[in-house]
Amino acid sequence: MRRWFLLVLMPFAALAQESAVPDTLAQRIAACTSCHGERGEGGDNGFNPRLAGKPAGYLHRQLQDFRRGLRHYPIMEHMVAPLTDDYMREIAAYFAGQDVPYATHPTPAMSAEAKARGEQLATKGDPARGVPACMACHGPELTGVQPDTPGLVGLPYDYVSAQLGSWRTDTRNTVAPDCMATIVSRLTDADISAVSAWLASRPVPADAKAADAGSVTPPLRCGVLGG
Ligand code: HEC
Ligand code: HEC
Repeated sequence: MRRWFLLVLMPFAALAQESAVPDTLAQRIAACTSCHGERGEGGDNGFNPRLAGKPAGYLHRQLQDFRRGLRHYPIMEHMVAPLTDDYMREIAAYFAGQDVPYATHPTPAMSAEAKARGEQLATKGDPARGVPACMACHGPELTGVQPDTPGLVGLPYDYVSAQLGSWRTDTRNTVAPDCMATIVSRLTDADISAVSAWLASRPVPADAKAADAGSVTPPLRCGVLGG
């Protein structure tokens, strides 16, 4: 009886072991794709962000920040709780390596004044208020800079404005000095909507890849860029 039981079970155990190994990354990612898309192309609401093609260091940092309670979003905090740092790194590398077309999103109506203000902040900044141009760190095409700075093109208005708002309300933080928190503290609510709308209305450049590491010199210190 005993022996029969073992003989029946053993092949199953072997099978389970064999398939568990190569499938591990795929299984971890399956838990993410219902919201972030099969290859990280982003959900079709404005809030489940695209992950595909974002710099790996940036994605890894976000997973760590959700885990360390620096960036707050209950579902994400729950999703990353069981992940080891090695898994987080692998998942980040997987999504960073996906090259999928950007979805188009509706852009909010903008007054001429808001459009000009959004463009000014993104391309020149507002020196009088100590706000550097977004391009100074996010790259001349706003496609991000390897390995830690995300791009700002191809993102929906709702997502960008929600992230800027969460720096303001302290629901998003990262390693100090948190340069984005400093910048957001110098923007008005109208600035946040203007720059988010201007960014969301930009066409995604044909080459949307992040610029090379070291190709920009950040005008403010950022802990995530090595301080
Ligand atoms: C139920 C939906 C849902 C699931 C499942 C989910 N996410 Fe998220 N994820 C979100 C939302 C919404 C945000 C934006 C949170 C915010 O506003 O800060 C987010 C943010 C992120 C970010 C930060 C993106 C950025 O550009 O800053 C990463 C990285 C991420 N998720 C990875 C994952 C991974 C890896 C998994 C699977 C282990 C996963 N997510 C599962 C909804 C989800
Ligand atoms: C001094 C450098 C610097 C400047 C200037 C800067 N950023 Fe950032 N930004 C960063 C870094 C670094 C990150 C990644 C932060 C992190 O890892 O949490 C970031 C992240 C972001 C994100 C989150 C993207 C995502 O996918 O979740 C948004 C949105 C953003 N910045 C908008 C802006 C806007 C708008 C401006 C101009 C008004 C701007 N940034 C100017 C360095 C900068």
